[in-house]
Amino acid sequence: MAVIVAVAVDGHFPSGVDSPPTTAYHPSMKLADRLSTVAPSATLAMAQKARDMKAKGRDVVSLTTGEPDFPPPDHVIEAIHKALTDGYTRYTPVGGLPELVEVIRAHYANKGLSLASNQVVVSAGAKQAVFNVAMAVLNPGDEAVVLAPYWVSYPDIIRIAEATPVTAVGTQDDGFVVRPEVLDAAMTDKTRLVILNSPSNPTGGVYSRADLEATAEVLRRYPNAVIISDEIYDRFLYEGAEQISLLEVAPDLEDRTVVVNGCSKTFAMTGLRLGWAVGPKTLIAAMNMLQGQSTSNASAPIQMGGVAALTGDPGPVERMLAAFDRRRRFIVDKLRHFKGVTCFDPRGAFYAFPDVSGLFGKARPDGTVVKDADDLSDYLLEQYAVVVVPGAPFGAPNHVRLSYATDEDTLDRALTRMAEAFERLR
Ligand SMILES: Cc1ncc(COP(=O)(O)O)c(C=O)c1O
Repeated sequence: MAVIVAVAVDGHFPSGVDSPPTTAYHPSMKLADRLSTVAPSATLAMAQKARDMKAKGRDVVSLTTGEPDFPPPDHVIEAIHKALTDGYTRYTPVGGLPELVEVIRAHYANKGLSLASNQVVVSAGAKQAVFNVAMAVLNPGDEAVVLAPYWVSYPDIIRIAEATPVTAVGTQDDGFVVRPEVLDAAMTDKTRLVILNSPSNPTGGVYSRADLEATAEVLRRYPNAVIISDEIYDRFLYEGAEQISLLEVAPDLEDRTVVVNGCSKTFAMTGLRLGWAVGPKTLIAAMNMLQGQSTSNASAPIQMGGVAALTGDPGPVERMLAAFDRRRRFIVDKLRHFKGVTCFDPRGAFYAFPDVSGLFGKARPDGTVVKDADDLSDYLLEQYAVVVVPGAPFGAPNHVRLSYATDEDTLDRALTRMAEAFERLR
């Protein structure tokens, strides 16, 4: 059996990596059955096509990036240097250095959430935390409900845990918030996990207090379900949008809710791999155990960088967020002027997620018809060297995702080319 193993685009392959591991294994290599459900992703295919075109000398503009185009704050880099020279080069406790665990506890105490130190586990990125929760709670045959549109990795992580992903979809008209009755319809007695992500990748939608209250009301009816609240974009908020954690509105769900977060996005530390989870003691202990038998601790000096990030001058992050807000306004305004495109006003994260279905059925200048968002993305890439990510892998086939974590000149060039591309569709 030839199995193709691939992972999605968000922060997995640094731009310098030429050959991502879309490896077709040798046919005689028998791989585990669980991998047969992990599909090569369309997002990776787009990124690869873009790389191929770049290699041929095309002036490619990419709006696919899932990471800030800023460097980490200077004080974080300095703290990492210092940690190296101070001897932070050995194993640390699996779940994190006590200094970092304390800082994470203080971070949540400021939000009114009091945590014991055995309710915190530090991981090599937020993704590892999500992965460890899935591995700790899911059995084969279980269902895991993912609130959609969703980050591409959730369904694959659920499949690797040999469970079945089930989606509950929020529409653009509802600000991509999943209605309680839709969530309720997706939940069954087999639901063991629910994954919520606000602010959202890919939509930029933010669940309000009322939205979360309605969500919590449904979740209370399913006491067997563990809940992941992925809050990795919690600082990326615009125009007065507020980050409310599920636990703030529903402290009664504390015994089965895990909050996942990390330094990747907020402090532009994607390649440094630092995330964490906070939650009920039994589950955190299980995650610790799994991590202890797989990767052990997150890198020791990077953990000290995390201490500096969480306690240091907030200025660099504020400046980055101000730049992102300017870009957000620019991109949304442009998108809204395109005929056949409607765009929700994203108040969080760093993505715009327009509905492009008004362009489906139109013909490209060469006469081929744009049937769906995949075709549209191919057209933009092949004819205009603009890379966007089609929405199907996020559970939203009428949309494309554009990241504005890129400089203003690139954004301007991409949007100018898109205007021309859409204009020429008949
Ligand atoms: C919603 C969401 N959660 C988690 C992650 C993973 O973060 P990390 O790089 O810390 O593993 C990402 C990265 O793209 C994300 O978009």
